[in-house]
Amino acid sequence: MKLAVAGKGGSGKTSISGTMARLLARQGHRVLAIDGDSNPNLALTLGIAPERMGEMPTLSRDMLTRTESGGATLTQTLDEVRATHSTTGPDGVSLLIMAHPHHAGTG
Ligand SMILES: Nc1ncnc2c1ncn2[C@@H]1O[C@H](COP(=O)(O)OP(=O)(O)OP(=O)(O)O)[C@@H](O)[C@H]1O
Ligand SMILES: [Mg+2]
Repeated sequence: MKLAVAGKGGSGKTSISGTMARLLARQGHRVLAIDGDSNPNLALTLGIAPERMGEMPTLSRDMLTRTESGGATLTQTLDEVRATHSTTGPDGVSLLIMAHPHHAGTG
């Protein structure tokens, strides 16, 4: 099962995503959560300490390659990406982070 959560700012996307991920993991499902927010904070909801966030590698562009049909495909298996880039929370949810902000821009 794949679930994508999107919606307007501050509507509870992170809270509900993290809660669902933890409940599914507690029930014995293998859960991989992907934080696609440019200012990621799903780790906190998953119970992962903020100090661990800094050491987490983000996903690089060269992990994707174009297919002849114009789509995109992974250059590694999902298990390889999980092994090298994810961290695991207290309920067993694995987390991947797409990007970290490197500097603040002007508003
Ligand atoms: N069901 C709820 N009842 C009351 N407060 C809630 C509920 N769900 C989330 N909140 C609170 O609303 C705020 C926004 O929630 P959350 O960060 O999950 O939203 P978001 O959609 O991920 O926001 P953003 O767009 O900034 O990423 C938080 O302070 C959160 O604690
Ligand atoms: Mg959010």
